[in-house]
Amino acid sequence: AAGGTLATGALPVSSPPQRRQPAVPFAEFFRMPMPMPRLIEPDTTRNGVDVYSVAIRRTRTEIVPGLQTEVLTFDGGYPALFRATTGRPVLMNQHNHLGTPVSVHLHGGEVADVDDGGPMDSIDPGDSRAYHYPNHQPHAPLWIHDHTHQLEAEHIYRGLSAFYILQDEDERRLPLPAGRYDVPIMLRDVHLDDKGQLLYQMEDSHGRTTILANGKPWPYFEVAARKYRFRILNSSNLRIFRLRLADGSPMTQIGSDGGLLPQPCLVDELYLTPAERAEVVIDFSHYPVGTRLELENTRNFGKDDPARKVLRFHVTHTAQDPSSIPVTLRTLPPLPEVTGRRSFELSMDDVTKPGAQGYINGRVYDHQRVDTSIPWGSSEVWTISNKDPRFPHNFHLHLVTFRILERDGRPPSAAETGLKDTVGIDVGETVTVQATFDSYRGKYLYHCHFADHMAMGMMGQMEIT
Ligand code: C2O
Ligand code: CU
Repeated sequence: AAGGTLATGALPVSSPPQRRQPAVPFAEFFRMPMPMPRLIEPDTTRNGVDVYSVAIRRTRTEIVPGLQTEVLTFDGGYPALFRATTGRPVLMNQHNHLGTPVSVHLHGGEVADVDDGGPMDSIDPGDSRAYHYPNHQPHAPLWIHDHTHQLEAEHIYRGLSAFYILQDEDERRLPLPAGRYDVPIMLRDVHLDDKGQLLYQMEDSHGRTTILANGKPWPYFEVAARKYRFRILNSSNLRIFRLRLADGSPMTQIGSDGGLLPQPCLVDELYLTPAERAEVVIDFSHYPVGTRLELENTRNFGKDDPARKVLRFHVTHTAQDPSSIPVTLRTLPPLPEVTGRRSFELSMDDVTKPGAQGYINGRVYDHQRVDTSIPWGSSEVWTISNKDPRFPHNFHLHLVTFRILERDGRPPSAAETGLKDTVGIDVGETVTVQATFDSYRGKYLYHCHFADHMAMGMMGQMEIT
C-alpha cells in the first residue's frame, strides 16, 4: 500500500513486511494554521429529518507545504464535521466512490444494528447506503469512521474519520465557551514519504512521525486572551496522547466520550488512547498577548522527539469573555442494580510475526459467532484485563455508554467519572465498568480500538436479546 494507492487485494494482516521509503524531511513546527474541520451540511430536511448525501471519495490535500497528499474523505473533508441535535433524526446517504468496500460507523451512537456499520456490513464500490441516526441520546462528541473488516485500519489512517458533534439543550444552555470559542480538534499521527504521500503499514508505531491536528502538521492556532472549549478526539490507529500544556498549567476537563462530566475537574494532562475524547476549557486570559504556548504529548517521548510536539497556541489579542464554567455540568442517573457479571481478557500475538492475531478471551473475531449473549434490560459489570505483556490496549463497546467503576481496584479519577464508550487499559491493568443494555436489541461489537488490533481480530460480538 505504499505510494498513496490503496491496497485492494491482500488483507493487511497477511501482507508481507514492506521496506519503508525514506520519510519526507518535514519537521517544520507551528508554520501552518490549524483549520476547522470542514462542516458538512444536510442537503435538505424532510419531516424534521436532516438528510445528508455524502460522497466517500479520494481527494488531495496539502499536508506538507507545496505537496498534494492523496487522502480518503467524507465529502472532501480532511477531516469532516457533522453537527446534530438530540431529538432531531439524521438520514445519512453514503455513496462509496472508492475502489474498496467501506462501512460507515457512528462511534458512540445509539443506533439500530442495521445502521451500525458493522465490519461485514459494507457498501460495495460504486454503491450507496442510507444510515438512520435517531439521535435519541444525550449530547456527546461522536465520531464517524470506517469499520470495514480488515480495511478499517488503513481506511481510518488515510482519512475516513469525521466528527459528529451531537448537542442538546442541557448542554447548550450552560454558559461554557461557545461559537468560535468552541473548537473541535482531531489528532492523529501519519507517516509520509518523500513525495508527501501517506505510507501505511500495519502496526507501524516506529519511525518518522508527523502529528496532525485537524489534518495539518504541528499547526498553530491563534486565540484571544479568554476561555476556549476544545473537543479533542484521538483518531490515531495506535498512538496514545498524554497531552499537557508546556508551561505545566492545569486545564479544566469538562467532558469525555459521552459528553459533559458531572463536575469540571482540574487536570495536568489528558490521557487519550485511540477513539477516546476529552473536552477541556483552557483560559488564555492568564497569558499576555504575544504568548506562544505549546500543547505537547509527553507519552514515551524524549525532549527532542518531533512526536512530542502537537500544536501551539498563539495568544494574539484580547476579547470579552462572558463565558464561565458551572460547578455542576450535569446530573448522571444513579447506577442501576447489577444483574450480571462477566470478564474479558485482551491478548495479542507477537506483531512481528506474519499473520499475528488479536484475541478477546482467547478468540479471534468471527462475525458468525455470538460471543456474549445479553438479556435486554440488564445492567452488567464487565471486568476487562490486558494480559498482553507488551502493548497497551483499550476496550470499546458499541451501542451503550458505560461508567468506570474501578481501575486496578481503585476508584476512577475525576476525569473518568463521566459516560464513556472507550477505556484505555495499560499492560497488566484491569478495568471494571458497568453498562446497561436497555436500548436496541440485536448484534453489536465490542473491541480494542487500536485500529490495527481490530484488523487483527481483537473484536467480539454481543447479542442483546
Ligand atoms: Cu469506533 Cu467499533 O468503533
Ligand atoms: Cu489493542
